[in-house]
Amino acid sequence: MSTTTKTETRYENARETLATRGQTHVLRWWQELDDDRRTQLLDDIESIPWSLLDPVIPTHVLAAPKTTTLSNLAPAEVLPSDPGEKLAKQYADARELGERLLKGGKVAAFTVAGGQGTRLGHDGPKGTLVVTPVGGRTLFHLFAETVQAASTRYRCEIPWYIMTSEANHHDTHTYFCEHEWFDLSPDSVKLFSQGMLPAFDFNGKLLLTEKHRLARAPDGHGGSLKAMIASGATADMRSRGIEIISYFQVDNPLVKPFDPLFVGLHAQSRSEMSTKVARKASDLEKVGNLCVVDGKTCVVEYSDFPEALAHEKNDDGTRRFDAGNLAIHLLNVDFVERIVGSDFRLPFRRAEKKVSHLDEAGQPVETESPNAVKLETFVFDALPLAEETLALEVDRAEEFSPVKNATGADSLESSHRDQIRRTARWLQAAGIDVPKSPDGEPATIVAISPTFAMDIAEIKGKRDQIPDLKPGDRVWIE
Ligand code: UD1
Repeated sequence: MSTTTKTETRYENARETLATRGQTHVLRWWQELDDDRRTQLLDDIESIPWSLLDPVIPTHVLAAPKTTTLSNLAPAEVLPSDPGEKLAKQYADARELGERLLKGGKVAAFTVAGGQGTRLGHDGPKGTLVVTPVGGRTLFHLFAETVQAASTRYRCEIPWYIMTSEANHHDTHTYFCEHEWFDLSPDSVKLFSQGMLPAFDFNGKLLLTEKHRLARAPDGHGGSLKAMIASGATADMRSRGIEIISYFQVDNPLVKPFDPLFVGLHAQSRSEMSTKVARKASDLEKVGNLCVVDGKTCVVEYSDFPEALAHEKNDDGTRRFDAGNLAIHLLNVDFVERIVGSDFRLPFRRAEKKVSHLDEAGQPVETESPNAVKLETFVFDALPLAEETLALEVDRAEEFSPVKNATGADSLESSHRDQIRRTARWLQAAGIDVPKSPDGEPATIVAISPTFAMDIAEIKGKRDQIPDLKPGDRVWIE
């Protein structure tokens, strides 16, 4: 078939698909488009998963979905960060098992980095943001050093999978190439793109950003499950003998992706999907709440969580719903392969967003207020699909300080503070003096590369390599 006939056939098919849904307006400028632009527009149209979207357009696009009644919501069971006497043996056994699995090359790292990072305002993929308070490490660089350090510690090459999206895949790939994959073997770092979904106006109509481009957005981190299968990432994991995927978000420099205790508890309990949680910083903190509904573990996002429940207290005055989702998970490769079948779908969530687009005359329209609906799925909605789940509480000061906002909570400033505090705690616990300011905060700006030490024990073994720390110094230990 000639290229022209092929394009004509694709056009006819696209027109038919669109006509049954009242969407042919997106072909309005077809006659003006050159061949490349026609191909691009057809690619965009053919990428729309109508079988998934048709049922939810009336419920999630033309209307806001009804919030489910959460009357039978209960707090989820969570293993404590401190095992006490009762769990000491179980935790020790788990740690040993986790180390065995890590040494056996059964665990892969997986970063979701396809988000648009609009709140932060960083120009470029979020992973390219310099995140350490000293040492100039970007998020990707820091994670690369963590993967390298864990590979050295466990004497096996740990593969690292990174999910990007159409908007940042090219830049992310270029960034890694320019930095020579941060000394990791390029074969062990796998980048793949997540799916995209079209944006709709409030009347359910597709929007165009250019005469040949639909307005589209990443399909949410829930899309990672399908993308892992579609990209061949899970097949690659299988070929390497990987059984457990250590999932984390690109925004958290304190994350510990290779935690033997977490891995061991996950395996010990035959969990298919596990979650790290921390006690919430406040009743209404903007984190998901780990709960149980009808016997199934789930995360109820802060925006959906009934405020009255968020304020509820136990008899001893502690918060009843206190398990904040840190978006740090372990998922079995088996589990991902099991659930991502032909009829796999996670519930869609509706987000109202500002989307620049073309009006009927082809003129660009910028908008001051939300004018469009984007649909997304969330990875934690896979929790109820797991036969077994496990939740482990961790100390947030040790493992969680994400960079999400330009200022205030969860900003670069708060994360710098938390990174310095953690380093100072580790150094002090290893017997190294860290000068303090009158307010009790570390007076030295100090941080440690994971390749130098991933924990206190490693610092202890290298004490003689650490310089004297003086107030006002900026010290990167590597
Ligand atoms: C998220 C969780 C929240 C949790 C908090 C912890 C959701 C909806 N909520 O909130 O329960 O307590 O983190 O920090 O996730 N991403 C993609 N593709 C997408 C969308 C996002 O890869 O299509 C990635 C982003 O790059 C980022 C992560 O997912 O790494 C989180 O996305 P974000 O939208 O920032 O979620 P939060 O509101 O921070």
